[in-house]
Amino acid sequence: MKDFLSTVKDNRPVAENIFMITLTLPEHTEEIHGGQFVNLATGDNSLLLRRPLGVCKLDGTDLSLCYQVKGKGTKKLTEAKAGDKLKVLLPLGNYFDLSEYRSVAVVGGGVGVFPLIATLRDNKDKDFYCYIGFRNKAAVCLLDEFDVCKKLTVTTDDGSFGDKGNAVQAFLKDNPKVDAIISCGPPVMLKALKRELDERGIETPCFVSLEERMGCGIGACLVCVCKTADGGNARVCKDGPVFNIKKVEL
Ligand SMILES: Cc1cc2nc3c(=O)[nH]c(=O)nc-3n(C[C@H](O)[C@H](O)[C@H](O)COP(=O)(O)OP(=O)(O)OC[C@H]3O[C@@H](n4cnc5c(N)ncnc54)[C@H](O)[C@@H]3O)c2cc1C
Ligand code: FES
Repeated sequence: MKDFLSTVKDNRPVAENIFMITLTLPEHTEEIHGGQFVNLATGDNSLLLRRPLGVCKLDGTDLSLCYQVKGKGTKKLTEAKAGDKLKVLLPLGNYFDLSEYRSVAVVGGGVGVFPLIATLRDNKDKDFYCYIGFRNKAAVCLLDEFDVCKKLTVTTDDGSFGDKGNAVQAFLKDNPKVDAIISCGPPVMLKALKRELDERGIETPCFVSLEERMGCGIGACLVCVCKTADGGNARVCKDGPVFNIKKVEL
């Protein structure tokens, strides 16, 4: 893990309210894997806390992150322009380790799609069956990143693009025979996935990336603690963000 002073290379909208920012790091970094995240300064010195964003792409020293504009920090980020300097701490957290699996179902929703893209790029030798959901057509982006998949189903809540419905429904309808399932998306989506796997008695190993409010991002402040299935606690930033779905409460 290292704190870099990066240079903004590009920062542009890729869908409604979603931006992709590309940062050039001053040097090559250790390997970064899909599921890991960075803590990015927003460019507003009055905002002390950096914002956690999942790694989407790393090409040489160019690191791309996609962010939804939500509050003060991400709004400020939209103002960053080529040549600006932003501090970025990386890589943080664990990742989707697919070394034991050959075929993988990918269930992603909203901004949860971006760390999954990094995971596809990381694992070019796997057979991926992807089910990704967006709010509506205006939110759909980066579909070309899924060209490597054996199968891709895109859903929108209102049916304005792809199938009407959500990614979990699309996955269950298709029910691909896979060695593992990985998922990242809003809490309500992960909850639905866990419930459906339980109810249907699906024992395929399933790994989910959790999102919690964060402070330090490095395991020190305990802001990001979540409950584990055995009644304990885990730090999403350090013990996660990727967990076996059976081991955490959602
Ligand atoms: C591991 C991880 C990876 C993430 N990856 C992405 C991504 O790839 N793309 C993306 O759009 N979003 C991602 N998020 C969510 C993103 O961090 C928040 O949307 C962002 O921090 C909101 O900041 P804000 O200043 O605009 O909002 P505000 O609500 O004004 O933020 C106030 C404070 O709350 C924190 N906060 C608010 N919402 C969240 C949240 N959901 N998760 C964590 N902290 C939050 C902020 O960091 C800040 O400290 C990720 C979150 C985590 C934990
Ligand atoms: S954010 Fe500080 S311990 Fe996780």
